Amino acid sequence: MNVRIALLTLLFSLSLKAEDNPFFPTEDLMPVGAYYYPEHWDESQWERDLSKIAELGFEFTHFAEFSWARLEPEEGKFDFEWLDRNVELAAKFGLKVIMCTPTPTPPAWITNQYPEILSVNEDGRKIRHGTRLQAAGTHPAYLHFVERIVTKLAERYGNDDRIWGWQIDNEPHYHSLYDYSDHALQQFRNWLRDKYGDIDQLNKAWGAAFWSHTYNNFSQIRIPNKKETGNVNPHALLDFQRFTAEEQAKFIRFQAQILMGHVSEQQWVTTNYAYYKFLPPVDLFLGRDDLHFAAHTMYLLSTFLNYPEGDLAHRLGSGMELSFSGELARSINGYTGIMELQPGQINWGKWNSQPLPGAVRMWIWHAFALGDKFTCTYRFRQPIYGSEQYHKGIVETDGVTLARGGAEYVQALEETSSLRDLYKPVEEPAEYAGRRTAFLWKQSNLFVGLNDPHNENWDAWQHLYTYYENLKTLGAPITFLQETDEFDVEKYPFMVAPAYELLDEALVQKWMDYVKAGGHLILSSRTGLKDNHGHLWEALLQEPIWPLIGAKVDFYDHLPPGTNGKIEMQDTVYEWNVWADGLTPDEGTEVWAEHTDQFYAGTPVVTHRELGKGTVTYIGAWSNDRELEKQAMRRVYQRTGAEILDLPNYAFTEWRDGFWVTVNYTSEDVQAPIHDGANVLFGEATVPPGGVAVWQTQ
Ligand code: GAL
Repeated sequence: MNVRIALLTLLFSLSLKAEDNPFFPTEDLMPVGAYYYPEHWDESQWERDLSKIAELGFEFTHFAEFSWARLEPEEGKFDFEWLDRNVELAAKFGLKVIMCTPTPTPPAWITNQYPEILSVNEDGRKIRHGTRLQAAGTHPAYLHFVERIVTKLAERYGNDDRIWGWQIDNEPHYHSLYDYSDHALQQFRNWLRDKYGDIDQLNKAWGAAFWSHTYNNFSQIRIPNKKETGNVNPHALLDFQRFTAEEQAKFIRFQAQILMGHVSEQQWVTTNYAYYKFLPPVDLFLGRDDLHFAAHTMYLLSTFLNYPEGDLAHRLGSGMELSFSGELARSINGYTGIMELQPGQINWGKWNSQPLPGAVRMWIWHAFALGDKFTCTYRFRQPIYGSEQYHKGIVETDGVTLARGGAEYVQALEETSSLRDLYKPVEEPAEYAGRRTAFLWKQSNLFVGLNDPHNENWDAWQHLYTYYENLKTLGAPITFLQETDEFDVEKYPFMVAPAYELLDEALVQKWMDYVKAGGHLILSSRTGLKDNHGHLWEALLQEPIWPLIGAKVDFYDHLPPGTNGKIEMQDTVYEWNVWADGLTPDEGTEVWAEHTDQFYAGTPVVTHRELGKGTVTYIGAWSNDRELEKQAMRRVYQRTGAEILDLPNYAFTEWRDGFWVTVNYTSEDVQAPIHDGANVLFGEATVPPGGVAVWQTQ
């Protein structure tokens, strides 16, 4: 490690004084809990079930997020007695309670009386009673009922020390993702009015001169809908997506404000974000000032996710997505908990394979490794009726027999809680802090990448994951940052901003300052293609970033499926197909990789330059096996002297509260980077698929 990095990392670890979390004492590590739905079961079973949850070692339970019809069976008539009894039983058995607001499931009496609150899908159909998440979260008629039920709950349980904290709603999003109702249209127009002030500004921002899209006033605007028009104005679409994300955040904020006004300082308030590819409009950062922290949910075997290669991948799950979602949620307010983690097979995958024996335990250990303040499983009992009949629980359909995944939960919670005896406050190791990487995040970049990939094989998510996954092979802890956050070189010696398409001069300047102060910035293709309205620059391709990267981006190329281009870096040839740039470096900029074929053979494609005390690396290609990016990133980290690991994709090593953990989602054995002289607590250096190694160094 060079002297500067060593000093920086030392300073950083010293600044990390074990600041105690207001709600989750560090020494408690990671309590594990389970969802329980009293309303699904005969009341004669409540005591048996809650005592069993406690007896198995779970430390908390989770009530009521879909129980509105039971809590308020008729307008203005409330029934809390059943919930009171369950809170009492939970307390009797020493279980803390996460209380939820039941707003994802408005009762039939509301939606029948006020059908205008229902959201409408892109085909123009109202989403009727019979599902969940069907109401438009900002409709005043709906908010009237929301306010009342949330206030009632808050008044009843907000100063009750049996309640640990609150979950608002459930995985905030609309049933059909976007709402095309009249209400949404009015709100959208208002939002646009606030944003642009006058219609000429909007016309400019939307490039409305193109195809005579020009509007005379805001009331002419419709929600961009491909089902109506086939093609939509991309700038209008981007605004509609931003608007939707803000509407959802507003709904959560509305409830958070009610709760915060009533609940005691000991109770925390969160929501359980689901950050999956198929739920793009949610922007966790929008809730940063509203909630105490962002919790997250994760189903690793859902078949819609990103899997590693390997025979066992479908049984081990998408560890990368658990990691990504956990680090994203943690970045919002500095800590997180996982609200839903599957206990076995789920009902909603395209197919639902058995997890490999050990996989469930590994997921819990992985959540632990990521620093989660709690892990909760969805759900204790497998439902015997309703839409999720095939969803495994901790116990089987008889309500009492421990399921295989349930047994793994018990094992993992016993193991993780046994570490409390070994816990002592220690500083974050300099080696770990020294490879901490900021991942710059702007929801709009994801929107534009998905809306207009330009090459049908450009998968905006997958491009982000390419960088994320590669960073995890280096063992880098990741903090997601927004442009408005401080780019603190001491905290984040490295920063990546993959395909950061939309930007302005201010960001380029902020990057310059970060790099000059010693930061190492890594950018990839498409970065700086457009301004924040999504317009190309009236300049050359990506020209605003040229002074930063020390090169001109002359062109980009795509190849047809099945045809590969070749790029050489340090005597190794990498193939690409989806996207590659051609660069002209300035004097003093190093060329790290060049095209070796196509009519532009010999053209630089990866460059690296020093600027002030730091460096900028531009990776102008998306390689087929992600290796070009991995090796270029390794080079950046190695050059700075950072201590990096060399893990295969889908093996993860993290440090938390004095414990190192390696988990293995690959189909082969991996070697855990156990430190010499370490005290190995679980597993061993060779970690089998689905296995875990845990060790302590001090
Ligand atoms: C989650 C959802 C839960 C439950 C679960 C089933 O996404 O929040 O309510 O439906 O999926 O796996």
